[in-house]
Amino acid sequence: MSQEYTTPVPDLDASEVPEPGAVTIVVPTFNESANIRELLHQITESVPARLPCEVVFVDDSTDDTPEVIKEAAQDCPFPVAVIHRDEPVGGLGGAVVEGLKAATSDWIVVMDGDCQHPPSLVPELVATGERANAGLVVASRYIKGGSRAGLAGSYRIAVSRGATWLTKMLFPRRLHGISDPMSGFFAIRRQAVTADVLKPLGYKILLELAVRSRPRQVAEVPFVFQDRFAGESKSTAQEGLRFLRHLAGLRTATPAARMVGFGLIGASGFVPNLLALWILTGLGMHYLPAEIVANQFGVAWNFLLIEQLLFRDRRLHRRWWDRAGRFALLANADLVLRIPLIALFVREFGMGALTATSVALVTTFVLRFAATEALVYLP
Ligand code: GDD
Ligand code: MN
Repeated sequence: MSQEYTTPVPDLDASEVPEPGAVTIVVPTFNESANIRELLHQITESVPARLPCEVVFVDDSTDDTPEVIKEAAQDCPFPVAVIHRDEPVGGLGGAVVEGLKAATSDWIVVMDGDCQHPPSLVPELVATGERANAGLVVASRYIKGGSRAGLAGSYRIAVSRGATWLTKMLFPRRLHGISDPMSGFFAIRRQAVTADVLKPLGYKILLELAVRSRPRQVAEVPFVFQDRFAGESKSTAQEGLRFLRHLAGLRTATPAARMVGFGLIGASGFVPNLLALWILTGLGMHYLPAEIVANQFGVAWNFLLIEQLLFRDRRLHRRWWDRAGRFALLANADLVLRIPLIALFVREFGMGALTATSVALVTTFVLRFAATEALVYLP
């Protein structure tokens, strides 16, 4: 299979090549001044002879990267643009989306600015997309012929493997046919990009595109993840947390999925609740007031998780203390409402206590979810 991909790219005849640029290469950069010349050199060597190209850097640097780009661009046989963002939003992914919007070619290739992604593969990615009539072509480390040689350290390899596994579990359908959803190297048809539905957050822009833009057909080409040419990875532990928030946001895009998330977070609230109860009664508090106080710990825990994972972009409509107050009110109303509801089910509908309690739990849960959506986090 690798043989098929490593053969030279079929000649693109003139009718297939849209003018003026057949491919826009989008490169996000954050303090990469030491890598720019080498990257543009590698692109010059391997792309323009096979495919007309332009390069768009989307830069969030605090160093002299933009100046270095402008300087180096003078020696390039293709157009080079720099978009510098003074107020970067969305991190790496946000930068890439800016680049996607600015691109003018039918095909866009996204690649890193540190030479870990070999530019010699750019024509291959586009040619494969044309051949397979695909909307998205992923350069993958995980198919035959690819490898993650440049992924330094067993820790990063383990994290990468775990993240890939988790992500594939969460999106079995959307990521069907994508062995490397974490890859930052891919080609996408400009037509397939639905920029207005994207909510990029951090590094995993390919995942964002695969899940929200849903390109009709996906192909893959193996690649060897190279060593960084200069400098160090810009990824941090904070980026890991951002990734989890990104996953949560992607997974809870529909009300049904949000309700499941709401339930899971609610269930996790038992842990701080019981812990607080244990400590308070241990300190000698009577168990009844302790129940009430401990419940607030569960409520606070749920509130924090729900804010971070479920309604991250719906927080702006109210101030945080307003949201917290409403949330706490609903959570406690839930408890108070449950008892008369159980009594009603037992007396009026002749249910057994266990059935009545189950039905009441489900009813108040759904009500609380709906109320939280409508009264705390306006759509
Ligand atoms: N504009 C912009 N803004 N660019 C950024 C930002 C940002 O906030 N953060 C990082 N970049 C740029 C870097 O300058 C580099 O050109 C590219 O994005 C990749 O960043 P690295 O810090 O080198 O990432 P990495 O090597 O750890 O991770 C790469 O490989 C992973 C696979 O293991 C990325 O391609 C990941 O997306 C990929 O998952
Ligand atoms: Mn890198």
